[in-house]
Amino acid sequence: MSTDPYLLRVNGTDHRVGDGRPGESLLWVLRERLGFHGSKNACEEGECGSCTVLLDGQTVCSCLVLAESATGCEITTIEGVADDEGLSDVQQAFIDTGAVQCGFCTPGLIVSIGALLDSNPDPDDLTVREAISGNLCRCTGYGRILEAVNVAAAGRRNEGSAA
Ligand code: FES
Ligand code: FES
Repeated sequence: MSTDPYLLRVNGTDHRVGDGRPGESLLWVLRERLGFHGSKNACEEGECGSCTVLLDGQTVCSCLVLAESATGCEITTIEGVADDEGLSDVQQAFIDTGAVQCGFCTPGLIVSIGALLDSNPDPDDLTVREAISGNLCRCTGYGRILEAVNVAAAGRRNEGSAA
């Protein structure tokens, strides 16, 4: 049985989901039906954060969101973080600090950190750690990731003071 067709607005563009199945997660539909493979599928239980996207600006684990329920929301995936002018400041900071560790945790971390800095451009260390507490790295550690946050945050502060 298929669902009725529905629309998902992803990174500013409407996408028609025409042959969905009831109960499909937003992560599944993004990856397998719409071709947004940047959000990763690691646990499908809301435990790892590799599937993090923004729903109307709020971070969610897309593996826990019913795809149809996201109709009418602005969905931002890692593919929507960069713009025509280039990488986001957080993406660039990850490169500059060597924080790009693997393709599973990095997309979700960048989405979460971007959302944090949008709401709080000068977070203290505890706030940063809380903001990324749902994004698990199982292998290397968080030192360079925290450094990347500091670099991106410093860049925003400098921009703010120059404006
Ligand atoms: S795949 Fe969604 S939290 Fe792990
Ligand atoms: S899970 Fe990505 S570097 Fe550890």
